[in-house]
Amino acid sequence: MTTPDTAGSTTPAPEAAAPTAVQATNVEKVFSTSSGQVHALSDVSLTVAPGEFVSLIGPSGCGKSTLMRLIADLEAPTGGQLSVFGKSPDRARRDQDYGIAFQKAGLLPWRTVADNVGLPLQLHKSSTADRKARVAELLEMVGLADFADRHPDQLSGGMQQRVAIARSLAEKPRLLLMDEPFGALDEMTRERMQTELLRICAETSATVVFVTHSIPEAVYLSDRVVVMSPRPGRIAEVIDMKLQSTDERTDELREDTSYFDMITAVRESLHGRSGQGGTQGSGRTSTGHGVENR
Ligand SMILES: Nc1ncnc2c1ncn2[C@@H]1O[C@H](COP(=O)(O)OP(=O)(O)OP(=O)(O)O)[C@@H](O)[C@H]1O
Ligand SMILES: [Mg+2]
Repeated sequence: MTTPDTAGSTTPAPEAAAPTAVQATNVEKVFSTSSGQVHALSDVSLTVAPGEFVSLIGPSGCGKSTLMRLIADLEAPTGGQLSVFGKSPDRARRDQDYGIAFQKAGLLPWRTVADNVGLPLQLHKSSTADRKARVAELLEMVGLADFADRHPDQLSGGMQQRVAIARSLAEKPRLLLMDEPFGALDEMTRERMQTELLRICAETSATVVFVTHSIPEAVYLSDRVVVMSPRPGRIAEVIDMKLQSTDERTDELREDTSYFDMITAVRESLHGRSGQGGTQGSGRTSTGHGVENR
């Protein structure tokens, strides 16, 4: 195998040098607004390995969505570097590496549920038969098989969110960017979707960057939890989940002491009291506002 070097020629790829999925190095984001500058992210450095599940957690306004939007190439950083599978975010977007499910469902109101889910497949010209089969499979998975012909405004907020999740998975993306995708779901559906998400990740080896306000959700899903602090948003601590691998996790974990220990570790980090388990970052948050303990 070869990879292009900076001069444009090719050189043999070193054995151990598989590209990271996401590499953020000293990333800064300052928004200029009519009322002045907003320093949304400061000196954010983070490496996400291929196949890894990483959650971002932190108080409202600490820059979680901003970081996701930078990775997704929906905004440009004002400082630092960002790469996705060794490429620029713009290149990764054009290579269709992403599946995106963000805070707002972002469905097209004039299309049916099935046509919303199948949109990425249609845009990328998969055959009608393949598309139908995949859409049926996805709608079954999110529990909306009976709603294929409805329109988004005929669904509840949680159901719309499930349509958006199904759409983000349509093309089995290499990198899933999910910003509070389960926020509008009832607790039972939310747990079911969490388990489904881990199953899908195991099946597709997808890398996931996931934003949540729920500590238990972050713990259940993640290999590592990134705790962020606000004003300006920065990484306070990165905590390794000392649990079984994500593809072996089942609902039983939710009642295990190892799970509660990790919840405590994240909770204490959010409240600025931790030290164990952290692998990166230095600052400490003094508030856990906007973060759920459920
Ligand atoms: N387009 C924008 N223009 C100006 N300021 C912005 C813009 N987008 C975000 N911000 C500011 O950047 C900061 C971080 O916002 P962001 O949406 O990333 O927070 P968050 O951690 O996702 O919060 P929440 O948990 O409430 O979703 C906030 O102070 C916000 O007001
Ligand atoms: Mg947000």
